[in-house]
Amino acid sequence: MSEPTSRWTAVETIGRGVRAAPALRTGFGLTLGLAILGAGGRVVIPILVQQTIDRGFTDAGVKVDTIALMAGIALILVLLATWAQRTAVLRLGRRSEEALYGLRVRLFEHIHRLSIADHSEERKGALVARVTSDVETLAQFFQWGGLAWLLDGTLMLLVAAVMLSYDWALAVVAFIAAAPLALVLQRVQRHLVRAYDLARSRNANVMTQISEVVAGAETIRAYEAGPHFVRTAKRASKERSDSFIKAGTIGAFLFPSGEVFSVFTVSAVVGVGVLRGPGSGLSAGAMVGFVFLTYRFLEPIAEFTEVLEQTQTAVAGMRRVLGVLEIPIGPPEPETPISLPAGPLTVTIDRVDFSYRTRGDEDEAPVLIGVSAHIPAGQQVAVVGETGSGKTTLGRLIARLADPSAGTVSLGGVSLTRVANAELRRRVTVVPQEPFLFEGSIAANLSFARPKLSRAELEGAVDALDLRDWLETLPDGIETEVGQRGAQLSAGERQLVALIRASLVDPAVLLLDEATSSVDALTEVRLTRALERLARGRTTIAIAHRLSTAARADRVLVLDRGRLVEDGPHRVLVDAGGVYSRMYASWVAATTSTD
Ligand SMILES: Nc1ncnc2c1ncn2[C@@H]1O[C@H](COP(=O)(O)OP(=O)(O)O)[C@@H](O)[C@H]1O
Ligand SMILES: [Mg+2]
Repeated sequence: MSEPTSRWTAVETIGRGVRAAPALRTGFGLTLGLAILGAGGRVVIPILVQQTIDRGFTDAGVKVDTIALMAGIALILVLLATWAQRTAVLRLGRRSEEALYGLRVRLFEHIHRLSIADHSEERKGALVARVTSDVETLAQFFQWGGLAWLLDGTLMLLVAAVMLSYDWALAVVAFIAAAPLALVLQRVQRHLVRAYDLARSRNANVMTQISEVVAGAETIRAYEAGPHFVRTAKRASKERSDSFIKAGTIGAFLFPSGEVFSVFTVSAVVGVGVLRGPGSGLSAGAMVGFVFLTYRFLEPIAEFTEVLEQTQTAVAGMRRVLGVLEIPIGPPEPETPISLPAGPLTVTIDRVDFSYRTRGDEDEAPVLIGVSAHIPAGQQVAVVGETGSGKTTLGRLIARLADPSAGTVSLGGVSLTRVANAELRRRVTVVPQEPFLFEGSIAANLSFARPKLSRAELEGAVDALDLRDWLETLPDGIETEVGQRGAQLSAGERQLVALIRASLVDPAVLLLDEATSSVDALTEVRLTRALERLARGRTTIAIAHRLSTAARADRVLVLDRGRLVEDGPHRVLVDAGGVYSRMYASWVAATTSTD
């Protein structure tokens, strides 16, 4: 399976990202408006300075009331802008949190639903790990880069617009003079980031060394290895301080260089302005205001160049996240589903081939080859075979966790590809080898599939499977806590819980994959009893590891390296002297010798 690819350009990626996380768009217009208002507050001072100079200091003298009025307006506008900016920041923060939350949920659901035919559990785990770190990158971007884009972006655009409206020629001079600043800053910042990364990793290295020396003090003393460790520790701390000094040096260069470039740009603006002289139509106030604006324009550049790098990382993360969402989920829902007949269902497996595609190469060795079997409604079937012969896979195909590469599986005469997934989940229940239990009580684990059931109904289900005696051995009965992943119970007991859970769904077809791990004798008796009760009136397919289960079944299917090699009642197969009879003989020998 190919990795989610990066086919999209940055702009496309951002567009798709916003569509995948619609919360980002909700009310964005208002947030942007508030950000522009906030930026306006920082532009208003240069404009008011210009107004004050041009109107307050006339040839007729100093107009105190005009100056006071300007100061008053400035105060009000700055307060308003501060409020607007703060609100914009809060809104962006909240929306991006919502967006990330939604994205996480979608990603995990998507990965969870990926077909088991194409994606092994390990691969799903790897996808989750990677997506978690990518979403974390996005979260960091929103905390800082996204804000910078919003606030600095609007500020720079607004300032540039005001500068152009004052004097477009002078504005162009300022922009051109500022360009080298952006380039130099970006370079230096990249070096700075790397230098600090290196310094941090060396710092961590020193910490590790110190903790090892402390923890391993006895061993070091026993081997007289002190001098060696002292040398290593000295070297590590020297490397650490060298790298911090280097990072500091680059940082020290960064701040004055920004200053130098600002002075350079402002000088160019003042120089050109003065050279053109008073005849050019630029008043003294406008000239002063323009210089202020130039400073305002330069301020965000430093931050912007830094943010650019972070933005690239975030876009790359977004691209991978979207790539994961693009991985097709299988098996697909039918367009026009057909309902299954009521009551017990037949299971028909017709010339089924199956290969996993999890390792990427197309011609992966087939796991099932030409398997056919017709199981009448209500029959009890055991599937047996060596490890890796394809038993679990066959069960997955019957529950349609994957579709066969060739051939069909049908229930009650309806091909699984025509049955709605929801109906299939109601009619077919799988009790896996390692049933998953959630942390909580047994009752909670039973009722999560049917939340409306009363305590009495749950107890009723336990009685129906004749498991009352088991429940009474537990400290709190049905309220006993199972622990994380059910760790307080044994593997066999977890299967007991899963059997009761399956009985509550009341499926027409029950698929049971017996636990391979050894089950104590008493639990085995209980499992057998419960399964016998549960199997009544249902088609039951048990993947049997204990051949006693096979011996009790109506019929045994024997798989050998993906092929169905024998099919018949236990006694008949034992007498036939084939694969099954040998399996059974060695099983009997093994169980009697260990007892
Ligand atoms: N999710 C999977 N991805 C790739 N190969 C798998 C997967 N599950 C099982 N297999 C392979 O398919 C073959 C049959 O496995 P399985 O159906 O689990 O056999 P059984 O249950 O009889 O032990 C084995 O070779 C196994 O390695
Ligand atoms: Mg198996």
